[in-house]
Amino acid sequence: MRVLVIGSGAREHALLLALRRDPEVEGLSVAPGNAGTAGIADQYDVDITSGEAVAKLAQRIAADLVVIGPEVPLVLGVADAVRSVGIPCFGPTKDAARIEGSKSFAKDVMTAAGVRTARSEVVDNPAHLDAALDRFGPPGGDPAWVVKDDGLAAGKGVVVTADRATARAHAASLLDAGHPVLLESFLDGPEVSLFCVVDGETVVPLLPAQDFKRVGDNDTGPNTGGMGAYAPLPWLPDDVVTRIVDDVVKPVAAELVARGSSFSGLLYTGLAITPQGPAVIEFNCRFGDPETQCVLALLETPLGQLLYAAAIGDLADEPPLQWRDGAAVTVVLAAENYPGRPRVGDAITGSEVDGVLHAGTSRSDDGAIMSSGGRVLSVVGTGADLPAAREAAYQLIKSIRLPGSHFRSDIGLAAAEGRIAL
Ligand code: AMP
Ligand code: GLY
Repeated sequence: MRVLVIGSGAREHALLLALRRDPEVEGLSVAPGNAGTAGIADQYDVDITSGEAVAKLAQRIAADLVVIGPEVPLVLGVADAVRSVGIPCFGPTKDAARIEGSKSFAKDVMTAAGVRTARSEVVDNPAHLDAALDRFGPPGGDPAWVVKDDGLAAGKGVVVTADRATARAHAASLLDAGHPVLLESFLDGPEVSLFCVVDGETVVPLLPAQDFKRVGDNDTGPNTGGMGAYAPLPWLPDDVVTRIVDDVVKPVAAELVARGSSFSGLLYTGLAITPQGPAVIEFNCRFGDPETQCVLALLETPLGQLLYAAAIGDLADEPPLQWRDGAAVTVVLAAENYPGRPRVGDAITGSEVDGVLHAGTSRSDDGAIMSSGGRVLSVVGTGADLPAAREAAYQLIKSIRLPGSHFRSDIGLAAAEGRIAL
């Protein structure tokens, strides 16, 4: 099987590595890829937001399967374009990708499916903002305001704050830019990212993971695209995963089928485990970054065969997934000033070793690996348990040099020390 992966992050690097372990995968291509993926896949520079360009490339290289990593092409209908030329594609239609692309669509589906989520309101008129802010946040019972961009914002469009002026300023700047604002009640509890391979009403969960969204240790500073992750979650009982699948993912998948927007691909559910039970923070229509890097490090089931089965409608016939024992931890190495405008163009050393996945990297004419984005690398450590996996990841990241770069030192720490309790 020849597989074409679309995207250029560490998530796509992880997908390629897992695909390469599948004995049925004999050819790997990526578009556009990065300096790290160049060594394991044929690299093509096409506009991945153009369905026509991606479908043409898939035909030209005779791909048997296209796997779309990021949300932007999915929301724009690139999977539809690939399917329309008769090539199986792992990734939802434009219609189904609205579960991520439009927060109001996602809320509507959740309401219809009876799924617990935050109370919310959309504000599109600045004149209504103050009254709406009064209905959320302190002192009315919510410990914080949650202010979101009602569209795609790579995780960075969200501000969670107990300071009304900060909440108001973020909402006002979104409205100024012409973006409707979503206000939400605050969901309190440890967060879980649960990835499920979904085809219609068939739902196959992967290992639960936890993502670290804030830039600084102890969850300080602004939200980012994700600074690290670990899997599985030693504090999360197996029956809670079963409950999330039965009470959240399956009803949502069924609701999408009922609406004629059947989902096929990876449905990512981000939840908070509140005192009242799991509640949905968001859905994404694709693998999460950086959770994928640690989840796939533990997958023993051949990934190409799994994704192909979902893409051709055979997911229900797949055998149960097999996992390695132990744990995996991902730590993201970010460029100076990320999540603000990142410093780029610096040489990186120590990044061409096993366990280092590339994201914002490119190769200079003289062959050096250069930084070219905000999240530059993802380092993955595995071990018999979470402390061992943390140790492996932090040993590895120490050997990498990138001027001005930073990373969090507490990925998975609270869980490793038994400080997360339900
Ligand atoms: P999102 O882009 O919707 O995933 O939000 C980014 C991060 O903001 C989440 O991972 C949470 O940490 C936080 N967040 C978003 N919505 C809520 C909410 N309703 N209650 C508490 N935290 C939230
Ligand atoms: N890990 C967060 C995301 O992929 O959106």
